Amino acid sequence: MVFFEQVPLAPPDPILGLTVAFQEDPRSTKVNLGAGIYKDENLRTPVMRAVKQVEAKLLETEMSKEYLPIDGDKTYVNQIAQLVFGAEFWKRESERVCGFQAPGGTGALRIGAAFLKKESDGSLYIPNPSWPNHKGVFAAVGYNVGLYPYYNFDAHCLEFEKMLAFFEALPSRSIILFHASCHNPTGEDLSPDQWELISEVCLKKQFLPFFDCAYQGFGRGMDEDVAPIRLFADMQIEMAVAVSQSKNFSLYGERIGGLYIVSKNKTVADNVRSSVKQVIRTHYSNPPMHGAKIVGQILQEDSSRQVWTQELDMMRLRINQTRKHLMESLEKRVKGKNLNYMKMGNGMFCFTGLNKSQVETMIRDFGIYMTSDGRINICGLNAANMEYVAEAFATVMQRGGAS
Ligand SMILES: Cc1ncc(COP(=O)(O)O)c(C=O)c1O
Repeated sequence: MVFFEQVPLAPPDPILGLTVAFQEDPRSTKVNLGAGIYKDENLRTPVMRAVKQVEAKLLETEMSKEYLPIDGDKTYVNQIAQLVFGAEFWKRESERVCGFQAPGGTGALRIGAAFLKKESDGSLYIPNPSWPNHKGVFAAVGYNVGLYPYYNFDAHCLEFEKMLAFFEALPSRSIILFHASCHNPTGEDLSPDQWELISEVCLKKQFLPFFDCAYQGFGRGMDEDVAPIRLFADMQIEMAVAVSQSKNFSLYGERIGGLYIVSKNKTVADNVRSSVKQVIRTHYSNPPMHGAKIVGQILQEDSSRQVWTQELDMMRLRINQTRKHLMESLEKRVKGKNLNYMKMGNGMFCFTGLNKSQVETMIRDFGIYMTSDGRINICGLNAANMEYVAEAFATVMQRGGAS
């Protein structure tokens, strides 16, 4: 019997496919500004010092590789909860929050999506634009994924009024995905005042906010980057939060993240916990151990935590300085165009305003790789390639097309 003959060829993943194309490019001048991975000045993604230290200890002290519980490693779940919601909130209100360790931020989003689809009939909206995998993850569990206005591609700025008006017109009990900070792909985040207004609409219309928090510590700071989550939690809004330690612990391949569901009270939270555990059990039974042990230990021990915090601060500094250098190099070359929108962004991503055909030119003529929407990862730049990249951008921008 023939089973697989009908299987169509799926398109390559838009972001991971780019990395493959970059690797196959023979040019020595090529530059990878594609995938959202932190790179240091040498364009490497090293294991963080605190991770190495804790791993060495784990090697000696770990006595068993038994299964973790369905909801994961308790130390990890509690420590990350404090990082995201704040230690005070966690001390006061942890009873109404259930946390689950998950295989990366993607795993957390997928488990959250599957749970919500099982328990609610609301429709779901993501920003336009968003991380491409959001649509895939929510569509995979059966959501008809809608887009809400977020970014004006012509004016290169947020379209907040439109967003607010769109939310006002939505049916109550809709599910709305928000990026907590460092919006991917635009780098444009809402201001604290704008978050206040959004939180009021969410409360009034009984929306369920689903925060994706993949870049805590990469934007303005550890607390600043999760401020909207804390605001919503303080307002007693029920919500879901997916976090990732891929970026802020540089543990990409260990697949470590978490899902938190904030409910009204402990009774509701206990029921929610039982339902999410069923979802996890039928997806992967229980989560992988190594990444959770590393993160839990680092956050629990003062000395490792200090080493980690310092290194993360340095990473944030490099991101912000590199953006500044890129802008200085571009403004020297590009005359008569206002590039302020590229300066304003938060985190690793910068929306350059290049259109699809200009991106193709950057790849074809200069070997500079970026996603087709014109997003670049600032960490792909360093002192050695900065002027080459700025020159290429200036050439392509001056040829026209980008406003
Ligand atoms: C916005 C956003 N959410 C979630 C993820 C997924 O993170 P992870 O690699 O931990 O699955 C990413 C990764 O790039 C992301 O950019």
